[in-house]
Formats: sequence, structure tokens, C-alpha cells
Amino acid sequence: MSIAIGSDHAGFPLKEHLKTELQAMGLEARDFGTHSTDSCDYPDIAHAVSRAVAQGECESGILVCGTGIGMSITANKVTGVRAAHVSDPYSARMAREHNNANVLCLGERVVGQGLAGDILRAWLGASFAGGRHQRRVDKIGQVELEYRGPGR
Ligand code: RB5
Repeated sequence: MSIAIGSDHAGFPLKEHLKTELQAMGLEARDFGTHSTDSCDYPDIAHAVSRAVAQGECESGILVCGTGIGMSITANKVTGVRAAHVSDPYSARMAREHNNANVLCLGERVVGQGLAGDILRAWLGASFAGGRHQRRVDKIGQVELEYRGPGR
């Protein structure tokens, strides 16, 4: 199963770097664009990556824009996606252990390549803790159902 990855123009260089990190870890990255620093709209990319995760085509996703904010706002509109916008390895680990985040959002203008790599490794290296956290994640799903209806 591959990891979906995408960025807008502002996140393009960091996306390319993270692809090489994933490949070095022996993980397959499925690139949903963008493919240059030409201006584009982050919701288009966030939607494509999030859809691939929600529909089970990819096991998780990584999104990069200038701040990570627009990507995370958009990704969290997709039923079944739990996108975490983080800028430090501790939050990345907790996003997986407590929130079972399946999409990681980063800001190219916020974190450097070294820190982003540490964040990526912390997130990929962590596992969902379950237990009381499962109950809370289930409640996130209940909120989705109330406002959005079941996912496809
Ligand atoms: C693009 O200038 C910038 O707005 C975008 O990359 C992102 O930071 C939005 O949240």
C-alpha cells in the first residue's frame, strides 16, 4: 500500500524532499502533484490526496503547502480523513497514537527539511494506541455522520 503525497506550489520543494525520504525508507509514494512551483490551488491537491486515503487507495497521506493550514482545513472536510497539521515531532507522534491521524500536513514556510524529516519519521514510526482513544476517534466519526452523512 502506498502513501499519497501532494503539495501546492509553495510546498513543492518540501514535497519532493519528503518523497526521497519515503523512498529511502523503502516506502512507495504516490504523487498527486503539483509538479512545479507554478501557482496552483491547494484545495485541488488536498482533495485528491484525501480522496485516495478515504477510499482506501492509499494507506495514509502527506500534504504540504506554505503553512500547512489550507491543506489541513480542506483534508478534514473529507469523511474518514483525520488530518493533523503539525510542526514538531512530538505532535506528529501523538497525532498517530491518540488521534489515529491518517493525513499529515506540513508548512514548507514553517519547517525546514531536517525538521520535516524528523516529523515524518515520528508520524510513520508511531502506532494508534486504541483503548480510550478509539472511543474518542469513534466520536469524531459520529460528528462526521451528523453533519456530512456517511462517506462513499
Ligand atoms: C500560497 O501562497 C499559500 O496560501 C498556501 O500555500 C497555504 O499556505 C495556504 O494555507
